[in-house]
Amino acid sequence: MSGPAQPVTAFAPATVGNVGIGFDILGHTVSAVGDKVTARRTESPGVRIASITGSPAALPLEPEKNTAGMALVSMSRALSLPFGIEIEIQKGIPLGSGLGGSAASAVAAVVAANALLDEPLDKLSLLKFAMQGEAVASGSVHVDNIAPSLFGGLVLTVGIDHPRTKQIPVPPGIRCVLVHPHMFLSTREARRILKKSIDLSDLVWQTANLAGFLSGCYSNDLDMIRDAFEDVIIEPQRSQLIPGFKAVKQAAMVNRALGCSISGAGPTVFAWCEEAYAQGIRAAMVEAFSDHNLACDHWISAIDEQGARIVDA
Ligand code: HSE
Repeated sequence: MSGPAQPVTAFAPATVGNVGIGFDILGHTVSAVGDKVTARRTESPGVRIASITGSPAALPLEPEKNTAGMALVSMSRALSLPFGIEIEIQKGIPLGSGLGGSAASAVAAVVAANALLDEPLDKLSLLKFAMQGEAVASGSVHVDNIAPSLFGGLVLTVGIDHPRTKQIPVPPGIRCVLVHPHMFLSTREARRILKKSIDLSDLVWQTANLAGFLSGCYSNDLDMIRDAFEDVIIEPQRSQLIPGFKAVKQAAMVNRALGCSISGAGPTVFAWCEEAYAQGIRAAMVEAFSDHNLACDHWISAIDEQGARIVDA
């Protein structure tokens, strides 16, 4: 049996990495935005990137230097594929925004390529290939964007060499407000500035907050989610990279957000809230950035349980 001869296009959603209190292990989808990758089989083995559209900055076409390309190189090598894969990447997620753009391209690439295989793989196998792509962009292997983009919803990942993922239930009616100020932040740089060790008291606080947040999600306890929604380790270090962060967060909180923090490595700031407060929170956050001379894109997103998918085959 041979795989499809026709090109296949996959969409992978943007994601909020860390969700404040789960550095490198927790993330959720943002269904409003995403990247697409079209993949087709070629006769000569190897991976080729035919085009990248939708990005104002030039992204590398060499597969080993590109997140989507590298994910496919690792897939092609591991499976010893007898055919080649050519891809076209359509970027929908702004570069350096903290919305998981590199992860989404890698995920869309492996999902599209998977549809070309004679025997498609399960999602956990695809996760491992996509992780190799993500490492190209950020200089380290982390899964908090890859896993939700692939599986959908709010996802916790435990382990790196043998990752286990868990979709966490999100209380009904929760919305995520996202405000992306027009500035570029490199994930590499936002990771480089982080201290290599932390105080024991911060560890205790952060652990309690992560546990409280997850238990609040499982039990629909919005008060617990609100009380636990505070990153005491990463946000204080990274917030200095985002002009006006304190004012933006305060604007969200006084307008009844459940919590507000940095999306991934930033500079996008996100807030969780009940649906009724989402518009007011968004307006207040955008105004606070504007007071710091930053124009923004903004979205209100449900935490969609659907992850990456084939959209055209
Ligand atoms: N967890 C990662 C970080 C996400 O915060 O550095 C980066 O996309």
